[in-house]
Amino acid sequence: MLLAQPLAGAQAADLRDSVQHPSANTAARTAVSSQLRASTEVAEVADGGSPLLSFATVGGAGAVAAISAAFVLGDPAKRRAEQTKAAGGNEKAAVQSYFNTQGFERWSKIYSESDEVSKVQKDIRDGHAQTVDKVLALLDSSGGVKGISICDAGCGTGSLAIPLALRGAAVSASDISQAMAGESRSRYEAELAKGAAAPSTAPTFEASDLESLKGQWDTVACLDVLIHYDQNNVDGMIRHLASLADKQLILSFAPKTLYYSALKRVGELFGGKNKATRAYLHAEADIEAALNKAGFDVVHKDLTATSFYFSRLFQAKRKGGR
Ligand SMILES: C[S@@+](CC[C@H](N)C(=O)[O-])C[C@H]1O[C@@H](n2cnc3c(N)ncnc32)[C@H](O)[C@@H]1O
Repeated sequence: MLLAQPLAGAQAADLRDSVQHPSANTAARTAVSSQLRASTEVAEVADGGSPLLSFATVGGAGAVAAISAAFVLGDPAKRRAEQTKAAGGNEKAAVQSYFNTQGFERWSKIYSESDEVSKVQKDIRDGHAQTVDKVLALLDSSGGVKGISICDAGCGTGSLAIPLALRGAAVSASDISQAMAGESRSRYEAELAKGAAAPSTAPTFEASDLESLKGQWDTVACLDVLIHYDQNNVDGMIRHLASLADKQLILSFAPKTLYYSALKRVGELFGGKNKATRAYLHAEADIEAALNKAGFDVVHKDLTATSFYFSRLFQAKRKGGR
């Protein structure tokens, strides 16, 4: 049946690239749901570089079948193993290499105003922008960021770091990808060139992985990065990020849902040539428990879900207010 068919080569390749993102697994699932839909929509998948339709739009038996097919495409463990092997056995090196090369090309375009994006990429852009706007609104509503020190860990192209700096925060932005860190610096400079007022403390943009970050900031933000850490490593990473934050931690991550677990189980029952995703999803309870253990209480939760972007936002404050 239709569902058992893998996506065509270009579609699968696009899907593989597109799934380096919190929206990824939604994307993988929805890629297949699109195969249930009209062929015009499937064509859009190929064009889009990412799959179509919200998982929520898939229902009943179709959902089960779509789930099956999605995981034929998207066995995360195998995909990760392949990429890690290509990077000499080091998974973090594989992520770094991706975000310095094709991942940089893809995501810097998505995180921009470029018209050279598909409808799907545009949807991911819009979803991500919502997450950033929510973080800015949270910080604005709690007294603003002027003079506050903020670490943006895994800053990407500076979508959060730049507006924070222009609002007067003392921003330390970093990313494992030199290309991403450089792009965020260029975009910040472009804002100044366009007439934005330079803040009294200039932001810094550095290439650094999360593990190597040292310092103390009022607030540590880490948006859509934990997807690159498995649960064994995410606890330690949250502990580390917490040790850097005097007052609050703002994290976003791809939430692990029942749907995803079902998907994974079904995927184990099928083989398939195309392996799509390397994303890790995290149970909200696990993230919250890690934050609690690190001395933080989650004070605000939000979810951004567009058709292709799916990200849970946690604002956590140090217990007892340090
Ligand atoms: C999906 S992007 C999100 C970027 C940015 N936080 C934002 O929301 O606009 C993920 C970013 O995490 C970075 N990244 C992945 N693993 C990392 C690590 N171990 N340390 C630092 N950055 C990492 C990637 O290079 C990429 O720029």
